[in-house]
Amino acid sequence: ATVEHTFTVATLSWPRICQPGNVSITSVKGVPGPMIEAYEGDTVVVHVINDSPYNVTIHWHGVFQRGTPWADGPSMVTQCPIQPGGNRYTYRFNVSGQEGTLWWHAHSSFLRATVHGALIIRPRQGAAGYPFPRPDGEEVVLLGEWWNNEAVISSNVYADAYTINGKPGDSYGCETTANRYNRRAKFEVTGNSTYLLRIINAALNTAFFFKVVGHTFTVVAADASYTTPYKTEVIVIAPGQTVDALMVADASPGCYCMAISSYQSGFPPPQAGFNGNTTTALVEYAGAATGGQQAPALPDMPHPVDTATANRFYTSLTALVRPGRPTVPLSVDTSMFVTVGLGLRFDPSCEPTPQTPCQRIPVASMNNQSFVLPDTISMLDARHRKTPDGVYTSDFPDQPPVSFDYTNKSKQVVGSVAAALLFPGNPSTKARTLRYNATVEMVLQNTALVGRESHPMHLHGFNFFVLAQGFGNYDGNTASGQFNLGNPQVRNTIAVPTGGWAVIRFVADNPGMWFMHCHIDTHLSIGLAMVFEVEDGLTPDTKLPQPPPDLPPC
Ligand code: C2O
Repeated sequence: ATVEHTFTVATLSWPRICQPGNVSITSVKGVPGPMIEAYEGDTVVVHVINDSPYNVTIHWHGVFQRGTPWADGPSMVTQCPIQPGGNRYTYRFNVSGQEGTLWWHAHSSFLRATVHGALIIRPRQGAAGYPFPRPDGEEVVLLGEWWNNEAVISSNVYADAYTINGKPGDSYGCETTANRYNRRAKFEVTGNSTYLLRIINAALNTAFFFKVVGHTFTVVAADASYTTPYKTEVIVIAPGQTVDALMVADASPGCYCMAISSYQSGFPPPQAGFNGNTTTALVEYAGAATGGQQAPALPDMPHPVDTATANRFYTSLTALVRPGRPTVPLSVDTSMFVTVGLGLRFDPSCEPTPQTPCQRIPVASMNNQSFVLPDTISMLDARHRKTPDGVYTSDFPDQPPVSFDYTNKSKQVVGSVAAALLFPGNPSTKARTLRYNATVEMVLQNTALVGRESHPMHLHGFNFFVLAQGFGNYDGNTASGQFNLGNPQVRNTIAVPTGGWAVIRFVADNPGMWFMHCHIDTHLSIGLAMVFEVEDGLTPDTKLPQPPPDLPPC
């Protein structure tokens, strides 16, 4: 079947919180925008009309885009953006061979802050169905942010509150009780029923802990890949990730608090500008007294720098063993060691004077390459025309320029010469070419030279196996003994631990240009990205098709 939508991206006025007046933001019919619901195997057609003042593209986060790399969405990687003034482009793609909770979001500047929504792929009718007892109900729980300023033009890309399904809850103390009550998302449940919560982290820069007072969860999927059922009281979800969890409404009938709080990994909380780093919603049992506008008790949330809880959650997930699931390739063709992290460099436009020496500015890089988007044509277009010269080069390095030593403290001093030398971040637009069907293993080493923070690394076009993760320096000799080659979790976004590493493996069986980047947008925008260029296979099915003639021009 075909699932068809029209998305008009336009300016919307919404109230500020804790401040008078409204702010203009950009959205598709509100925040979150419309949900796309499809069955596995369907064709999705979305007509995007750009009535906003900004360049727009839409990315279908987690969709493989086999045979349609043009429809993937990242601006200047796979397409030129749809320009303002009512210009339009129609995205067409197939959702075959994957099912679960995904989402869509703008993929140009910081627009995804308010331009996003859920993309749900259910098992095809007549297929095996969910590999767990059919839930009595399903709820999308989309985690996002409230902006008192337009994020895309704001110099401050930090939100004013977190949201659950677009509602800021009562995370801020400056509103009336009634306002706060009305601005809380509500989930109605029936006692002893089971609900499938489809949790999506659409926040620009923040990982979350997620809890519901008096209830536990059974995680059944992550990033639209089924997991061995995992029971937990707390869910951890980084920007870009999704988690599907079953929740049984087996508490005594009443009203319970659902809450998210930030997992800041390396940062001391709370950040300036936040009136709290917790947002709540209500889980209300049908027929039970709700307690009026009184908020029920908050859950006991983990501390914002509780890396142990995050690590326990992430390392407890494994893939559900079932017929037809992808299995881990045991031999590796392309082996990469990639440092990811933030560094400092001198602003090239700065002209120092004796009174005002130049300051170093933050820069993000992978193997010392700080990714810069091309500005003339998209990388996929350049590849198609066989004219990458001046657009990108295919020499992304497989190793960092100097071997990285996390334990060498002299390299970690913020602003030290050593840190600046090791990670100045060479501004470049580099791809790594992969032979069609090559098996790729990537060690992602978080440098934590500046800012100890977990980096949620997202790969377009593929899912990958997460073989292992740990802390400190990656050591292949000991780590390879810990690889899970039997049933590792399958993801599209891996939270590389604060001051640690993760090892992923995938098969490059999807020709195209595929972005890989940190899903913290403030890091993406300063270069924490690279691109995989996957060569064509030999059959018509494994060759890149011609781009559609109506792709937006630059
Ligand atoms: Cu969800 Cu390139 O992003």
